[in-house]
Order: sequence, then structure tokens, then C-alpha cells
Amino acid sequence: MQKEYLLVTGAAGFIGSAVAAHFLKLGFAVITIDNLSTGKREVIPEDVIFIEGDAGNAFTVKELEQFDISGIIHIAGQSSGEVSFEDPEYDLRSNTNSTLLLLDYAKRKRIKQFVFASTMSVYGNQHFLPVTENTIPNPVSFYAVGKLASENYMRIFSKFGISSIALRLFNVYGPGQNMDNLKQGMLSIYMAQAIHSNEITVKGSLDRFRDFIYINDVVNAFEKAFSKTKEDGIFEIYNVCSGAKTHVRELLELIVKHSQSSIKVNVIEGTPGDQFGIFGSPWRVNVDLNWRATVELKDGLEQMMKWAIKQ
Ligand SMILES: NC(=O)c1ccc[n+]([C@@H]2O[C@H](COP(=O)([O-])OP(=O)(O)OC[C@H]3O[C@@H](n4cnc5c(N)ncnc54)[C@H](O)[C@@H]3O)[C@@H](O)[C@H]2O)c1
Repeated sequence: MQKEYLLVTGAAGFIGSAVAAHFLKLGFAVITIDNLSTGKREVIPEDVIFIEGDAGNAFTVKELEQFDISGIIHIAGQSSGEVSFEDPEYDLRSNTNSTLLLLDYAKRKRIKQFVFASTMSVYGNQHFLPVTENTIPNPVSFYAVGKLASENYMRIFSKFGISSIALRLFNVYGPGQNMDNLKQGMLSIYMAQAIHSNEITVKGSLDRFRDFIYINDVVNAFEKAFSKTKEDGIFEIYNVCSGAKTHVRELLELIVKHSQSSIKVNVIEGTPGDQFGIFGSPWRVNVDLNWRATVELKDGLEQMMKWAIKQ
């Protein structure tokens, strides 16, 4: 039987490679677009058809014409708030133009299923926590502005028959995360520093807090969301979070506990657009997709540390 073609963008990166590998296992023929800006060619799972290029460029998207694609999971993107201040235009092209081009492509080709890697960053700083999908977004970085715009493009394109779901991912971590990228991924940044130099530099207060979510749980959320987009003309937003609030201070204690030597912690000024504290309610995703986080931070972090030390 002919396999269904599925586009999973960003398969040279942390989340995209894990999602692509999972959908290959489910029996899809997976195609990816990746510009290798933060991703690595060797991370792309074997058997994935690789188109090298910028997903925010119409010429790259045109290369999809050779395949009869039945669904799109758009994960590729510039994923650092800090970088979005250094190069806002690249951020816009990478995170928003790419979504618009892919949605427009989906509309022309009558591709009905679309899932997008959005972010908890769209909430910015909020008085009332945990944030729910009804919380009014208050982006404080260009990165978050672009992701929120992508969600809104999806909402409008859903009127043209593209069922779409935006997953607002909280702080994703786990084996496979890029330990060389010190501008994205709070947990991976601290862990990489602990392993390489026995010294962690924290940009911003130790009282900040986050909601950490393990990669396997995130992959599972993408599978459930993709199934849900089989329903006609829907547009949904879901928090993909654990609901647990973890202070930076507690995170550092866990990392230090699992490190094999003593670690010095330096605290310096924060980065622009960094949220002070956030954690989410996973209630809606639980009810609608029957999804919940299964891996606790202490267990996931231990797994990741073992993997990272081996690297
Ligand atoms: N990691 C997290 O905690 C987290 C949280 C919320 C949202 N997200 C979103 O999930 C997605 C994946 O994040 P990640 O942690 O795997 O990051 P990553 O940097 O490991 O992966 C991103 C991948 O996209 C590729 N890419 C970037 N811009 C591109 C472009 N314009 N065209 C084609 N490819 C491009 C990169 O080369 C890389 O392979 C991103 O869109 C990010 O915004 C991540």
C-alpha cells in the first residue's frame, strides 16, 4: 500500500527529529524542510526525505510540489527569544513567513491537516497563573509576536478547510536537545555548562520559574493533535505543559545533584524579553486530546543527564 506523505519541518532539530522519527514508526513517509541553522544533518532520522532550505522562502516550499502531501506538522523555526532581538527580521521570516507560506501551500493543495509548534512565550508576563488558553496573550519578545501571528494565520486559514492546531509548548527538554546552542533551552543551557565547565552562569533571577515538559510527552502530544486535525475545519490551541511550577533555583539543585562534580553558580543580568515566571494549565489538552504529561522533571532530568554525559 502507498504510504501517506507527511511534512514535518525542522527534523534536523531537537523536537522535529523526535516527531519525525515517531511518525516514520507510525508508517508515514516523512519529508522535512530544514535550513540547518541550529539543526544538524546527522540528527535527521534515516528514511526522512530532506529538502535543505529556508521554510520562509517560497522557492523552498515550491519543492514540495513533487509529493502528494496529506498533512503538515510545522516545527522548524528560530526558537530563541534572545536571537529574535538580535535579528527580528530573520525571526519573522523563519517563524511567521514560513507558517504563512505553508498554510497557503496547504490551501492550494487541499491539505487538510496542519499542526504547529507554538510557544508559551505568547503569554509573556501574567498576573494570574497558571495560564490557560483563555489567558490574553501579552508577548514580550519578537519571537512570541511572530508565533502568535502564526496562530492567527492558522485561525483564519481554518476557514478555508485546513484543520489546524497550535501546540503552545512550554519548556521542552530531554535527550537529543542541542547542547551547543547556549541561546535556547533553559535546562539544556545550564546542563551543558555544568558538564563542560563545572560552572553555570544564570542570566536573570534564581526566583524565576518555568514549567518543564519531557520530549517523549511532547511527541505524544503531536501525535494526538495530528489525529484530531482529521476533524473538519477546526482551529484549536493547547498548552503542552505539566502544570508544575519549578523555580530556577530548584532546577539548578537537581542539575547539581546529578552532576559528577561540584558546580559554581554565577548570576548575571537577564536577557531582553525573558519572562519572569510562567506555568500552565494542561486541563484543555487533557480533556480534548486525552493527553497528560507522564514524566516528572526529576526523572526526565536524570535521563537527560545520562545521555548528555555520554555525548
Ligand atoms: N524547545 C522548546 O522548549 C520549545 C518551546 C516552545 C516552542 N518551541 C518551538 O519548537 C520548534 C522546535 O524547537 P527546538 O527546540 O527543536 O529547536 P531546534 O533549534 O533544535 O530546532 C529547530 C529546527 O528548525 C530549523 N530551522 C530554523 N529556522 C528554519 C527555517 N527558517 N527554515 C527551515 N528550517 C529552520 C533548525 O535548523 C532546526 O533544525 C521551534 O519552532 C520552537 O520555536 C520549542
